[in-house]
Amino acid sequence: MVYKIFIRPVLFLFDAETIHNFVLNFFSKAKFLYPLLKIIYAPQTRSGVIISKLKFTNRLGLAAGFDKNGIAIRFWEALGFSHVEVGTVTPLPQSGNDKPRIFRLKKDEAIINRLGFNNKGADEIKKNILKAKKYTGTDFIIGVNIGKNKNTAIKDAVSDYRICFEKLYDAADYFTINISSPNTEGLRMLHEEEYLDNLLREIQTLNKEISKSKSSSLKCIFLKIAPDLNDNILESIYKLTKKSNLTGIIATNTTVERMNLKTNITEQGGLSGKPLKLISDRILKRLFEMNPDNSLILTGVGGVFTRTDFDDKISSGASLVQIYTGLIYEDPGIIKKILRDNIN
Ligand SMILES: Cc1cc2nc3c(=O)[nH]c(=O)nc-3n(C[C@H](O)[C@H](O)[C@H](O)COP(=O)(O)O)c2cc1C
Repeated sequence: MVYKIFIRPVLFLFDAETIHNFVLNFFSKAKFLYPLLKIIYAPQTRSGVIISKLKFTNRLGLAAGFDKNGIAIRFWEALGFSHVEVGTVTPLPQSGNDKPRIFRLKKDEAIINRLGFNNKGADEIKKNILKAKKYTGTDFIIGVNIGKNKNTAIKDAVSDYRICFEKLYDAADYFTINISSPNTEGLRMLHEEEYLDNLLREIQTLNKEISKSKSSSLKCIFLKIAPDLNDNILESIYKLTKKSNLTGIIATNTTVERMNLKTNITEQGGLSGKPLKLISDRILKRLFEMNPDNSLILTGVGGVFTRTDFDDKISSGASLVQIYTGLIYEDPGIIKKILRDNIN
């Protein structure tokens, strides 16, 4: 309540990206606050799940794109998330699209963004994660979401994903192959079988090679997909993901659809938040139907603002749930509120 009445209106006076970076930077440095935040925000029930060898202390994580460079990892742990997905990381640093590129749709409790994978590149992000890992608990999971640089042609995309995978192998608890940002030209073509089959096979082969050379177990790999897909393509994605023995699918990224919006806006980019909920739930449900033996782990993301939204994702087949836009519109207490009761 205090956040919505007093703090949010002030934050919303500023440009969305400027205030996002300001708050993120502040909390990345305010380490003295972490013990207090843990006391205030730590969820009372810690009903978690084990996926391969990864122990998630609860089922809620921070979605990719919020902390692209992994500068505030310890802050996310203090707020009570079981995991954070850093990135999207590209091999080389890049500045992304021209500003302004994040737009609030207040009446819809939504965001449109066209950031375009602005990030500090694989080398620096690896350093940030390894630094944070000295302090985070062994049961705080750090995923790394990987993508391709803007200037890499789609036919060469595999090599960018390989570079990121190799460079960040020691830093990542799991990887997410992101083929679904609408803000990198041509990226969503990677959903097509002719590209996806090869991409998933190459990354899984690399996974086996590196794991063997390090005598470690295979890294968990998820595929993050778009919400704007028909059933045929969804089925093909499901089959290819299974064929390559990936860990699971994250459904979904932002949508390029603009259905039933209250806000009159023509900005290009990916839409997230409340209007995405039904669209991403539909994709999750379809995947759940294709996955009766639970051989793929499903992660639900898109439009989670409340405990009910979270429960919808779980009952639609998600083992894990992630949140982004809900955290902008609600206060950080949302994590505790969502996780307050037993889930199992
Ligand atoms: C400003 C912004 C930046 C994002 N950047 C990324 C990104 O770099 N990589 C990615 O996989 N998803 C990215 N996303 C998508 C989110 O991870 C998430 O899939 C999407 O916003 C839907 O969840 P939500 O409705 O809870 O926000 C971004 C979303 C927003 C709003």
